[in-house]
Amino acid sequence: METSQYDRRRLLKFLAGSPLLYPAALAASAWQSGQRLDPIIDAASQALNVFDFEAVARERLPVAHFGYIATGSDDDGTLRANREGFARFQLRVRRLVDVREIDMSVKLFGGTWSSPIILAPVSSQRAFHADAEIASARAAAAGKHPQMLSTLTSTAIEAVNTARGEPVWFQLYPTDQWSVTQGLVKRAQAAGCPVLALTADLQGGSNRETGIRAQRRDTRDCSACHKPADKIAGQSGMGPASVDGLRAMFRGLDLSQVSSYQNAGADWDYVKRLRDSTTMKLLIKGIVTREDAELAVKHGIDGVIVSNHGGRAEDSGRATIESLVEVVEGVKRRIPVIVDGGFRRGTDIFKALALGANAIMIGRPYIWGLAAFGQQGVEAVLDILRKELRTVMRQAGTVRLDAISRAYVIDRQLRG
Ligand code: FNR
Repeated sequence: METSQYDRRRLLKFLAGSPLLYPAALAASAWQSGQRLDPIIDAASQALNVFDFEAVARERLPVAHFGYIATGSDDDGTLRANREGFARFQLRVRRLVDVREIDMSVKLFGGTWSSPIILAPVSSQRAFHADAEIASARAAAAGKHPQMLSTLTSTAIEAVNTARGEPVWFQLYPTDQWSVTQGLVKRAQAAGCPVLALTADLQGGSNRETGIRAQRRDTRDCSACHKPADKIAGQSGMGPASVDGLRAMFRGLDLSQVSSYQNAGADWDYVKRLRDSTTMKLLIKGIVTREDAELAVKHGIDGVIVSNHGGRAEDSGRATIESLVEVVEGVKRRIPVIVDGGFRRGTDIFKALALGANAIMIGRPYIWGLAAFGQQGVEAVLDILRKELRTVMRQAGTVRLDAISRAYVIDRQLRG
C-alpha cells in the first residue's frame, strides 16, 4: 500500500531533524493497530488521548523496535479482537447522582493505589528510551500506580525499586531450569517485591509476523546492543536467544543448561512447587478460561491476570474483555482478578470493572508514552487514563469503584 502524502511529509520532516537517519519508516498502513496514527504532537501535554503517543513513538523509534511493540501473533487477529471486544459491551449509565466527589482508589495486595490502572510488564524498555524502566518507575510512583517489572527488564530490579521509592511487583519468566527460577524468585523477594506473577501464556511460543517483517526492514547493525540472534522483534517466547548474561536479571546466574526463558514443561504441579518456594503473593498471568481460574484458586494462587499477552500469544481471535466474564465466574470473588489487553480509554476500564475485574493493566500505551517523551510521556498517558476513568465514573453516577457493578453494562450478545 502507498504511504500517504501526509506520512511522507512527516517522514521527511523527521529525517531532516534527525541525526539517526534510520531507514525508511513504515507506512502507517503497514501497522495493524486499526487506529489513525496522526496527528503528531510536539509535547506530552498536547496529547488528547493515548493514541497520540503511538504516532510519535512510530516516528521516533527504529522500525524494528516499533515493530516489536506493534506486533501481535500470526495475522494479528487477537490484537484486533482485544480492541473490538469492548464494543460488545455498552454502558448503562444512571442519572441524578451527586458526583462531586469521585474516589478511584483501590486496595490491592497490601497497597492502596490511586486508581485501578497498573503498568504491565514490558520487556527491554531501553529499546524505547534511554531512561527505560527508571522512567516508567518514576512515572508510576508519581501517579501512585502499581507497576510490574518484566524478567526481561533492561534495568536491574534493585535500581528500579530505588527509582520508584518502593518495591515493584515482579513478573516471572521462569526458564526451563529450576535453579535459575529459584535465583530469580529469591532476588525478587530479597528486593522486597510483594507480588510475583508467573506468565503462563507463552509456554508454547508464538509467531509474530508483523514484528519479523519490521525487523527485516531495519538494516542497522544491532550487535552493539543485543546478540544478532536476539533481534528483538522476532522474539517468540521459545529458544535461548533472550536468555543471556547481558540481561539484568540473569546476571550472575548459571545459564549453561537453560534453553528457553519459558518452561514448556510447566503444569499445576510446577505451580505448586513455585507456590511453596516463596512467601510473595503469587499471581498467574495469562488465564483466559473458567476452568483455569478455578484451578488457580484451588492451588492457592493469590490473584489471576486475564491476559493473552496483548494479542502476542496464540491467535485465538478472542478478546480478553470477553474472557474476563468466564474467569470472574470461575473465581467467584475469592481472589482479585486483573485484566489486560487493548485498554486505551477510561470507558474500557469502566467496562472491565463492571464485569468484575478489580484492576486493569496497560502495556503498549505507556510504552508509546515512554518512547515519545520518556518519563513525561508515561506520566501523561497515566494522567489521561485516570482523567477519562474519572469522567466516565461521574457520567455513570458511580462515585467509588465498588459502585461499578454488572448493572452498568449491557452485553449486546445476551440482549435478545
Ligand atoms: C509485553 N508483554 C509482556 N508480558 C510479560 O508477562 N512479560 C514481558 O516481558 C512482556 N513483554 C512485552 C513487551 C511488549 C513490547 C508488549 C507490547 C507486551 C505483555 C504485557 O504485559 C501485557 O499483557 C500486554 O501488553 C497488554 O496489552 P496492551 O495493553 O499492550 O494491549
